[in-house]
Amino acid sequence: MGTTTAALFALSGHNVTALDIDPNKVKIINKGQAPFFEAGLNETIIKGIDSKSLTATTDYKLAIQDADFIFSCVGTPDKLDGSSDLDFIFEAAKTAAKYLKPGSIYVQKSTVPVGTGRKVQELLPRNTTYISNPEFLRESTAIYDTLLFDRVVVGGDNIDAVKKVLGLYKDIEENSKAISQVAQLDILDELSEHTGQYIITNLESAELIKVTANAFLALKISFANSIAKLADVTGADINEVMNAVGADPRIGRAFLNAGRGYGGGCFPKDVSGLIASAAEHKIDMQILKAATEVNNSMPSYIINRVKAVLGESLQDKKMAVFGLSFKAGTSDARKSPGISLANLLYKAGAVVSVYDPHAIEEASTELQSGIRICESAFSAAHQAEAILIATAWPEFKDMNLAKLKETMVGTFIYDADNALVRKTVANSGLTYMGVGKS
Ligand code: UDX
Repeated sequence: MGTTTAALFALSGHNVTALDIDPNKVKIINKGQAPFFEAGLNETIIKGIDSKSLTATTDYKLAIQDADFIFSCVGTPDKLDGSSDLDFIFEAAKTAAKYLKPGSIYVQKSTVPVGTGRKVQELLPRNTTYISNPEFLRESTAIYDTLLFDRVVVGGDNIDAVKKVLGLYKDIEENSKAISQVAQLDILDELSEHTGQYIITNLESAELIKVTANAFLALKISFANSIAKLADVTGADINEVMNAVGADPRIGRAFLNAGRGYGGGCFPKDVSGLIASAAEHKIDMQILKAATEVNNSMPSYIINRVKAVLGESLQDKKMAVFGLSFKAGTSDARKSPGISLANLLYKAGAVVSVYDPHAIEEASTELQSGIRICESAFSAAHQAEAILIATAWPEFKDMNLAKLKETMVGTFIYDADNALVRKTVANSGLTYMGVGKS
């Protein structure tokens, strides 16, 4: 979020200093690269660095003393009890406060529980205005989402400051075609027809909008997964069901894809954070507890489905897991279902090989030490009895299945992210099973 925001403001006419406490990230950005894999981001960073509108530093004073706007994009991970850890939020604000110039605007983009803004405000000098501006971009489509935004939400007490922040996003919108070309995104036609909303709210509403949106999307996924379990035992196909259900505009088709459940740096912690922050106000978010329970049940549900085909004991069975990022298009492996699935198979006694096109490095510390990490899908599949696709990377969808079958000793593919077409898999002589595909 921070890197994308910095790069896109830099490409829309502003001088941006990206500040991070990690010298390694700063070094990578100053070399003109993104510190992680994200489509189009390297290209926008290079452009910003070359034109000198973007620079990165670890020096708070240098970054903040002349800044009119400060965007806080720090992490808010979950604590063991599920509540949001706000240490980085307060630490960043406290340190920034030493250097803020009078009249500056401190913008919170990090996802925080409702009520946090008022506490941060107290840490800032009186002549700095605090604004909440939640971010909705998704990893893997960060630039696309920013340019083709549904809405920009800005909330705060000071309407002049709110309008100034909105103005910065209007600058991105004005430059969106040029930015899309720098990022090599083929979206000029979509941009021509695009209309996003600019929404002004009070501070608390802006904070609550972000977590509510994510919690609702997580709810949709868990709902789809619950129905998928029923489809599995009754002969229905979850995609056929959700295509028809989602055709009702009151429901919508998005985020009703069943699979191994949601992971990543947002949904799991935003849901648990909302449950915890509601509990502080003595409100029981039962519906979100249920969504979490369904999500947590998915990896073991899938392992049981695999056992139904391969037999109750997976001892010494050679299995390959494809995909370790929490979704396709990113190297992020935080709370990744692929890692849980690989570890569960390993704990069940299977001999597990894994492969991911971009997430090996970020996943490796979370994987059980006996799991073999491979350089290619085919090397992971070598002599495997079964393959479990955990993340639907395009290269898995486009795989030469006949060749894959030759590499394996078994014929079973469990498609945990519902990436493949059953008929195509069956035509290559492999046995297919997906989530909610009976
Ligand atoms: C999410 C929100 O979508 C974004 O608006 C917010 O700013 C940050 O959090 P992100 O975590 O990048 O974005 O990924 P997203 O595309 O939302 O997917 C989250 C998880 O849900 C992934 O593990 C994905 O595989 C899973 N998912 C998504 C499903 O299982 N089914 C779906 O239908 C959609």
